[in-house]
Amino acid sequence: MKIAVAGTGYVGLSLTVLLAQHNEVRAVDIIQSKVDKLNRFESPIRDAEIERFLSEAKSGKRELHFSATLDADKAYAGVDYAVIATPTNYDDATNSFDTSSVEAAIAAVRKVNQTAWIVIKSTIPVGYTEGLKERLGDEKIFFSPEFLREGHALWDNLHPSRIVVGAPKDDSEAVEAAKKFASLLAEGADPSERERKNADGTTGIPELVLGTTEAEAVKLFVNTYLALRVSYFNELDTYCEVKGLSTADIIHGISLDPRVGDFYNNPSFGYGGYCLPKDSKQLLANYRGVPQDLIRAIVDANDTRKDFIADQVESRIVKLVYEGVNQPVVGVYRLTMKSGSDNFRSSSIQGVIRRLRDKGIPVVVYEPTLADDEFLGCKVTHDAAAFKDRCDVIVANRWSDELSDVADKVYTRDLFRRD
Ligand SMILES: NC(=O)c1ccc[n+]([C@@H]2O[C@H](COP(=O)([O-])OP(=O)(O)OC[C@H]3O[C@@H](n4cnc5c(N)ncnc54)[C@H](O)[C@@H]3O)[C@@H](O)[C@H]2O)c1
Repeated sequence: MKIAVAGTGYVGLSLTVLLAQHNEVRAVDIIQSKVDKLNRFESPIRDAEIERFLSEAKSGKRELHFSATLDADKAYAGVDYAVIATPTNYDDATNSFDTSSVEAAIAAVRKVNQTAWIVIKSTIPVGYTEGLKERLGDEKIFFSPEFLREGHALWDNLHPSRIVVGAPKDDSEAVEAAKKFASLLAEGADPSERERKNADGTTGIPELVLGTTEAEAVKLFVNTYLALRVSYFNELDTYCEVKGLSTADIIHGISLDPRVGDFYNNPSFGYGGYCLPKDSKQLLANYRGVPQDLIRAIVDANDTRKDFIADQVESRIVKLVYEGVNQPVVGVYRLTMKSGSDNFRSSSIQGVIRRLRDKGIPVVVYEPTLADDEFLGCKVTHDAAAFKDRCDVIVANRWSDELSDVADKVYTRDLFRRD
């Protein structure tokens, strides 16, 4: 198959590498430096599996059939599938995702190719694809939700929990094209996955063909559930902090119930990253006219948690002043959500920084991956030793052994030192 992928971010790049094992892939972006890096087999993002696959391809140890380009006309002409993996940021003014990059990429495909199946992998509002098809008079568009995690993008596609494609059930041509696309994704997965036994008694990777709108809903509902779970353990932790109870003991006690499970239960400053905040807001917007309490609460809980964290840091500062420390300084250790991540889009610590700044508390940020000297109006340092020395309270969403020598200054809720 000839496949074009629009966007070489976490989603587009991982799909490019996955599909390039067995197909000819043309990766399109609008940023020259990303395209140049890819053509040199260098990853523009930090992802162990992507980096491994690219370096093995460079040394000739692995075959990957792809090229990257800014030339959309050339790339989209003659392909069988065009996969759209461009950003859909949440726009607070319209209360919806900004889908303009998705529509720009689709227009660029159709300019030179009327027959390719267009697969939207970007996350979109529930009901978007059917509305777009009607608006454009174009039946050859379907949607497939993407479930990868940043930092493990290719690993998650090599070992997918499930592959979901959405196409209208009464359009047999679209259903066949969607099934074929699912099989291309499955073909790229690690061969061991073909033998795996699933909890429902089936073998291999589950491939689900759903209605288009149901597939869109799967993506928003799963991410909102994950946001709910994070918020639940965070509010449990807030309760324990206020009441002087051991959060870790209580989480251990409840997580041994197999219906809860001992995973994804480590407290933090809030859910963050590119997808959970925006996808839960989008789902809430989709609920307009439909009764709900919980979806709104999941969105609001994240703000309440960050308010609480900022208040906790403030009370430490007040205590230090009372003890005679002159103008104590708060240090924020890393802007990233997780250790090992190289990006901090919508990380919860940013909300904490804004709140501390609004309280008039001086904040210094330590973030070695950030070239700038200032972030959200706070000074950025790249010198870990000077940072640890200068700060009186160090606020860390995730613990790092680098902080061991100043553990008594650290404020974190990373109780289990993982996730
Ligand atoms: N990041 C994740 O963990 C994740 C997981 C599942 C789904 N998603 C969804 O997938 C989509 C992409 O996310 P991402 O994290 O890969 O984004 P990203 O910002 O990392 O990458 C998007 C890429 O698209 C490029 N681009 C923008 N407009 C373009 C155009 N018109 N033509 C070609 N390229 C264009 C950008 O330059 C960028 O390189 C979003 O809708 C997101 O919600 C992301």
